[in-house]
Amino acid sequence: MRIVKTISEIREIIKEWRKEGNTIGLVPTMGYLHAGHGSLIETSVKNNNKTVVSVFVNPTQFGPNEDLEKYPRDIKRDSELVSSLGGDIIFNPEPDEMYNKNNKTIIKVEGLSEKLCGITRPVHFAGVCQVVSKLFNIVTPDNSYFGLKDFQQYVIIKKMVEDLNFPVKINPVEIVREESGLALSSRNVYLTDDERKSALSLNQSLKKASLLIKNGENNADVIINEIRKIITSVPYTIIDYIKIVDPETLEDIKTVNNKYAVLLAVYVGNTRLIDNFSELS
Ligand code: PAJ
Repeated sequence: MRIVKTISEIREIIKEWRKEGNTIGLVPTMGYLHAGHGSLIETSVKNNNKTVVSVFVNPTQFGPNEDLEKYPRDIKRDSELVSSLGGDIIFNPEPDEMYNKNNKTIIKVEGLSEKLCGITRPVHFAGVCQVVSKLFNIVTPDNSYFGLKDFQQYVIIKKMVEDLNFPVKINPVEIVREESGLALSSRNVYLTDDERKSALSLNQSLKKASLLIKNGENNADVIINEIRKIITSVPYTIIDYIKIVDPETLEDIKTVNNKYAVLLAVYVGNTRLIDNFSELS
């Protein structure tokens, strides 16, 4: 396993891999890897001859008051994990390598980027699309892997790839959780012990919602109210949004049928957490 810092070097390696007839999987990450990222890496290693994991805390997807500076980083631990899972390369460029100072190109996936997390994070998805499309052009993967933990991100990237004809298949990967039910996230390290207890209400509320739907409840407002009750019953939580949406258009739905996504974003103390479950078929 090698750590590569420059675009020219990774392009050389990819050229060699292609000559040898290899398929290539890309797992884009911001590092501080956990078992959620691990699941994406394992899926890529299983389905491709070569796997590149990018570790890049992308400045353009952070708003001015967000946690860019304090975002956790540990490249040594990351490289141990990638190596143990059979990944071939970590692509870990510096911001100056990824961005020239005069960048003028923005990618906006209209109608999807402004909703949900896009309301409180107005520049976020433009930054995500920018860096992911650059990574696709640099690594030219056959497959790329995205966690359903970031459901809106997955939907937006899939649409961008379809609209702009990127020759890459976008593969969704299920959410990995702690035994407690808390979805793994690099940002969980910000939580105090008490906040962590409160954070369990996110998954608990989603489990309750899933049960309601299984038992035939199809009124979105009723389900959302049940979720709200559970989250507001614990300390430190402030709800950003709770939504039930169509999993492709991200438009609100009033009546839950066979295709839906139940999405939420909640501040627990100062940490903004997201979680969801969905039925895509
Ligand atoms: P990051 O938050 O590091 O996540 C990298 C990938 O890991 C994403 O596809 C995310 O959905 C997935 N992931 C995170 N936690 C997960 C969990 N508990 N279970 C399953 N998958 C999980 O998402 C980003 O970075 C960035 O926006 C990026 C796409 C790299 C662009 O900068």
